[in-house]
Amino acid sequence: MGFDTKIVGSTNDYSKTANSDVVVITSGLPRKPGMTREELIGTNASIVKSVAENILKYSPDTIIIVISNPMDTMTYLALQSTGLPKNRIIGMGGTLDSARFKYQLSQHLGASAGDLNAVVIGGHGDTTMIPLIRLATWNSVPVSNFLTEEQQQKIVADTMVGGATLTKLIGTSAWYAPGAAGAALVESILRDEKKLFTCCVALDGEYGQKDICLGVPVIIGRNGWEKILDFGLTESEQAAFNKSAEAVRSMNDVLKTL
Ligand code: 2OP
Repeated sequence: MGFDTKIVGSTNDYSKTANSDVVVITSGLPRKPGMTREELIGTNASIVKSVAENILKYSPDTIIIVISNPMDTMTYLALQSTGLPKNRIIGMGGTLDSARFKYQLSQHLGASAGDLNAVVIGGHGDTTMIPLIRLATWNSVPVSNFLTEEQQQKIVADTMVGGATLTKLIGTSAWYAPGAAGAALVESILRDEKKLFTCCVALDGEYGQKDICLGVPVIIGRNGWEKILDFGLTESEQAAFNKSAEAVRSMNDVLKTL
């Protein structure tokens, strides 16, 4: 078809990844119907740690995108085990969750998802993610102008269990939307697009949290995540964010016991 892309597949040889600009880690067990992402921690922690360390041997200046679950904890683990500068470690969850949020909104509004702006912050867990419906817009107009309170609540609830719903339907973890979200991040890095996504990144006081990787709005460009944007949360949104941080922190604590 005229593309010059070259692909090497099916190798266990990390030297094939040498000098990568970006590495996407999807390794780990997928969740099965009825499982939470958090239940995967024990097995996936050892896989992600070893993958991250091996990647680094061959691509010391790479940017790593973490997709493996539980994603917030795996991102934190990748940051710790590689020692890479924090801007080079990006967890993908919020990008995917925001896409699912826009899909749910599009269905209720009868709108094109491409005309919607909406972000999900917080953790990438069924109970930890926070779809920020107050800030969601349809071509700049708040969606609350067009949706009842009840509709808004349903959209938020369906977004939060989007991954679980798909897992139940297809019998294993989703992969199309996670793949598309990962590709969008890679594109923004390689083309230095400076797009705004919600990604799981290391916080150092932003959004009132420290020593944790959690989903916040960031600019994604050639240097990885380049800047965290402050969306000015309301008191109740900040309380939800803090609660989400608490849940993710207790997952991160499990790493110490492995
Ligand atoms: C999802 O939400 C795999 O966690 C990923 O679909």
